Parts: sequence; structure tokens; C-alpha cells
Amino acid sequence: MKKVTLDSGITVFPMPAAVISVGKGDDANLITLAYVGKVCLEPPIVVISIQPKRHSYHLIEKHGEFVINYPTIDQLKEIDYCGTRSGRNVNKWKELNLTKEHASIVQAPMIKEFPWNMECKVINRIKLGSHVCYFGEVVATHSDSKYVKDNELNPDEFDFCAYVSGNYIGLMKGALEKHGFSED
Ligand SMILES: Cc1cc2nc3c(=O)[nH]c(=O)nc-3n(C[C@H](O)[C@H](O)[C@H](O)COP(=O)(O)O)c2cc1C
Repeated sequence: MKKVTLDSGITVFPMPAAVISVGKGDDANLITLAYVGKVCLEPPIVVISIQPKRHSYHLIEKHGEFVINYPTIDQLKEIDYCGTRSGRNVNKWKELNLTKEHASIVQAPMIKEFPWNMECKVINRIKLGSHVCYFGEVVATHSDSKYVKDNELNPDEFDFCAYVSGNYIGLMKGALEKHGFSED
């Protein structure tokens, strides 16, 4: 194996390409984020990182809430559109024919057409360098029922994608193995 040294900003691990809703009512906006991750199980806490120059930054600062909407591989256009246009200039909901669905706890709307929605309340924020990192407690999660079987998520139905260094990558259906398989 011959290794080369890369710019430290490059990552090869898959990141979610998620579309986040922020704001409320007519002002609600959509932004695609790859800097999204889960960092605590109990309570369930996720992080997202947003650059202060984004329109969405001002909405999350004002309302302290957001929804993570996770798409399928058939919704790549929506993902890319929400990550290349600003809500300052376009209404992304209207342009993409996306429907605002009332969330159960937060005021930011969910994307009805996306199969996975996590309602989050900001509990902390840290200004890093280029990005401000928000810690959000997950207060409700909604899933298309097709992903759930016998009260567990069923990877055989997964039709998700990931973002790897500028590329949208389709994730395979089904699992390679189950957690703990090496103990058998
Ligand atoms: C796949 C993808 C991932 C992105 N990830 C982030 C991110 O993690 N943080 C961020 O601030 N901007 C990210 N962006 C850029 C914003 O989505 C983009 O600047 C967007 O147009 C901002 O919208 P707004 O001005 O309506 O808030 C990403 C864009 C794409 C296409």
C-alpha cells in the first residue's frame, strides 16, 4: 500500500447529506448540511455546524430549534438544490414542491416528503472556526413505517445516501453484519 498525505480538511468517512429546516411559518427555510452527527445517547443529542454567512444561521440563532430531514437516493435534486441556493433569494419549499408538515414539539416544520424527521432543540452552541456548532437534543423522531420491522429498523429497506468529499454516494440495502457479530 502506497499512502499519500492529503489536506487535513478532506474526509473519506460518509457524512449525512441532510436537509435541515429552520425558522417557522412563512420564514421557514431549508439548508443542506453534511456536518451532522450524533454525539450522545442519553439524552439523545446531535450536532450540526453552520457557517454564520448562511441565511439559516440567523434563523437558528433566533429560534433555537431545527428539524433534521433525511432524504432517500431519489431526492438528490432536493438535497443539492437546498445546498446551492439561499433562502434570501428563493423559497426552496415552493421551488421544490415540498410540503411543510407540523412537527409535534418544535415550531420548525418537517419536510413531509422526506421519510425521516428528527425534531431538535438547541441546548448549546460553540463557535469554532468557519462554523458554529449547535448541540441539539432530539425531542421527537418520525420515520416512514417501511423502515421499521418488529420494533427495530430494518436495513433491508434502507434507500439512503451519504456525502463523501463532494460526492453523493448511494448506500447499499441490507447490513453486512450485526453489531457484536465478532463475539459469536
Ligand atoms: C452536500 C452539501 C453539504 C453542505 N454542508 C454544509 C454544512 O455542513 N454547513 C454549512 O454551513 N453549509 C453547508 N452547505 C452549504 C449550504 O447548504 C448552502 O450554502 C446553502 O445554500 C445555504 O442556504 P441558506 O443561505 O438558505 O441558509 C452544504 C451544501 C451541500 C450541497
